[in-house]
Amino acid sequence: MGIEIAWQEWLGLIVRWVHIMVGIAWIGTSFYFIWLDQSLKKTPALPDRIKGESWSVHGGGFYHVQKYLVAPDQLPGQLHWFKYEAYFTWVSGFVLLGILYYWSAESFLMDPNRATMSISTAISISIGSLVGGWVSYDLLCRSKLGSNTTVLSLAVFTLVVAIGWGLTQVFNDRAAFLHIGAVIGTIMTANVFFIIIPNQKKVVADLKKGKTPKSILGSQAKQRSLHNNYLTLPVVLFMISSHYPILFVGGRTHGWLVIAFIIVIGGIVRHFFNARHLGVQGAGLLWQWPVVAVLTIVLILFLSPSREIGDREVTDAKAFSILETHCTSCHAKSPADPAFQVAPAGLYLESLDELKLHASRILTQAVMSEAMPLGNRTGMTKIEREELGLWIKNSIERSD
Ligand code: HEC
Repeated sequence: MGIEIAWQEWLGLIVRWVHIMVGIAWIGTSFYFIWLDQSLKKTPALPDRIKGESWSVHGGGFYHVQKYLVAPDQLPGQLHWFKYEAYFTWVSGFVLLGILYYWSAESFLMDPNRATMSISTAISISIGSLVGGWVSYDLLCRSKLGSNTTVLSLAVFTLVVAIGWGLTQVFNDRAAFLHIGAVIGTIMTANVFFIIIPNQKKVVADLKKGKTPKSILGSQAKQRSLHNNYLTLPVVLFMISSHYPILFVGGRTHGWLVIAFIIVIGGIVRHFFNARHLGVQGAGLLWQWPVVAVLTIVLILFLSPSREIGDREVTDAKAFSILETHCTSCHAKSPADPAFQVAPAGLYLESLDELKLHASRILTQAVMSEAMPLGNRTGMTKIEREELGLWIKNSIERSD
């Protein structure tokens, strides 16, 4: 008996594990430093060039941290930079994108109902969105708009939502939403790689030479850090969005609006924590949660459209034929689709009983949203989705 190794599955698993670990390390250190920076207190006893200090307790001891602005007179021999977390998160993320979305581009990336294109065109659009997203963002920050924080934030927000609109026109929804996460993640990593760390290096070099560093170096790095700070929560949601196809109900026409909501909601929650760390109290700290709750409810209502389902009878034979035509090629003990060696998500859809058993998951994946069949490989029509929904509804009513 020969062994058959499901390479794509195994590589995907290992790289995803790495990606999540380094991502936690990155966002964890980022949250920690934001908190640290905002918790610094200046006391009269501290010398002028110390911006503030912070005490904390963890793991059986006390930590006493002081922040020097811009740097101490004598640079310490050992200096931790905290940059590899960001770089490894991006590299592992890009490798994962390759393993899942490029290797099986026809299933994971493309959607023949939205755009017909070759695999290489699809992959070029994917890479183009990452590079183009960063280049346009960087140009915006360097442009005249860059001097006004509010105007710049609005411009960056519009840019990301516009990319989201573009991606939902050509890719399937899962891929489009994931790519928005990847576009934002690329901007964040490139901020660290091209701006924040190089600027810090220039500052250190100037100080070593006894020169006063240019203040633009610091203000530019601070602006980019601020963007990264506000983007952390949305980016995580986009990365896990494929588990929640309910987010894709907006489809090709309104997917961009859902993307806009997610960025605003995540940004406001982040704002609450920033304000709190800074010691803001009262109205400045009370508006965020109610606004987030209202926006979330609006989003939920928006993504729960009333469907004209009617009450036609859909026969068992019809439901079974839809399942067989559109689902069984992947969701079987031995899938016929060459992209899969094992049933994806461990889900078998080979009988009416299995259809009934997984009815609610199937409703969100294939009736309310078009997340399944993956990449609509089998060309499932709107009418078939409606019929599948009707059959599920009728069979649930009958068993009540
Ligand atoms: C081209 C292959 C393919 C076809 C055809 C396909 N699926 Fe899937 N399906 C997948 C993959 C891959 C996953 C796992 C996605 C993931 O976990 O990221 C999946 C996952 C699922 C899940 C589980 C999602 C979850 O985590 O809860 C459901 C439910 C589902 N499919 C339903 C269907 C239905 C219903 C059909 C037919 C209308 C269908 N699929 C057709 C590939 C396919």
